[in-house]
Amino acid sequence: MKKVPLSRVFVNDEVREAGMRAINSGWYILGKECEAFEAELAAYVGTKEAVLCSSWTTGALMLHHAMGVCPGDEILVPSHTAFPSIEPMIHRGARPVFIDIDETYCIDVDLLEASMSERTVGILPVHLYGHPANMDGIFLAAKKHGLWVVEDCAQAFGAQYRGQRVGSIGGAGVFSFYPSKNLTVMGDGGCITTNDSVLAGKLRMLRNHGEKSKYVHDFVGYNFRFNEIQAAIGRVELRNVENLNEHRRDVAARYNDRLEGVVQIPPERPWARAVYHMYVIRTERRDALAEFLKDKGIGTGIHYPVPNHQQPAIIKSCSDLPRLPKTEEVVTQILSLPIYGDLPMEDVDYVCDAILEFFGKFATANPSGGGK
Ligand SMILES: Cc1ncc(COP(=O)(O)O)c(C=O)c1O
Repeated sequence: MKKVPLSRVFVNDEVREAGMRAINSGWYILGKECEAFEAELAAYVGTKEAVLCSSWTTGALMLHHAMGVCPGDEILVPSHTAFPSIEPMIHRGARPVFIDIDETYCIDVDLLEASMSERTVGILPVHLYGHPANMDGIFLAAKKHGLWVVEDCAQAFGAQYRGQRVGSIGGAGVFSFYPSKNLTVMGDGGCITTNDSVLAGKLRMLRNHGEKSKYVHDFVGYNFRFNEIQAAIGRVELRNVENLNEHRRDVAARYNDRLEGVVQIPPERPWARAVYHMYVIRTERRDALAEFLKDKGIGTGIHYPVPNHQQPAIIKSCSDLPRLPKTEEVVTQILSLPIYGDLPMEDVDYVCDAILEFFGKFATANPSGGGK
């Protein structure tokens, strides 16, 4: 039987050779490959600085530390996101204030002001599934109330908001290079992008035990360093990421063509260039459809089945949990379909045929008569 996984990492000979080059160099942590990768990441995203670190989570933790997030602070964040989006702020003693979503599955900017208090310090929008959040609306609220904005770009490497790459719009952006992400490094990894060079300098020290010069520590930091093998690999992945993202967009366009009217397809706002980290459909028959696709060798996922305001870890520590009707509804209906940078179009058609069959529709493969 044919197998179509939910996601797959892009690997070619150049990637393998880059890894070997770093191994043979004899230098493994924070060396020339990391320096070059940081410069190339900053140039791509459009910021002065990119600071590599061991994951999104560690990057956000040291960013919150560097920005002085402290106990009692409140941060506005969507509930509908990966659980790690809220962990770093909780480790700093801050409280996530959960906001409902709009039709793009990102934070609903119309709900921001009503959710603020005198303890609110910042907004953490998530560019979920690779679609940018409504940054104009976010900045309007943030500026009016003197709040910082940090972008969660974990799922959106290369996405654009009004022609500007995500990660260059807020005070800082945090990326993940986890293997399923649009840009990966064959393991865990992440980076923080910012135009604030003082902040970047502090982050570079924090990731390396607060060290300013060898064995001299200005403050207590962490070991959130990055390594040469993954930097060498990441540099090759970065050179390919535009093509891989363009292919994801072609895949999304084919899914849209074939599935519109059968299931609810993901919207793309006119100001957005989404990079489809995930292609997420909605249907009331979600669970039965997932089972049907599994029997045909097709991988699917639910991102995410339990919203963060209803996670056991949160319920335990919070007395006044919000009701978020849109979030609570979509988690029962969303289904992520296979998508990755080199997913063959014939496999996309195989998935579409299966979905049309499930809904009792006549399947016509490749209706637009072309595509990559
Ligand atoms: C939206 C979002 N934020 C944060 C993270 C955490 O990233 P990492 O696994 O690199 O810490 C992820 C990854 O799952 C994510 O999807």
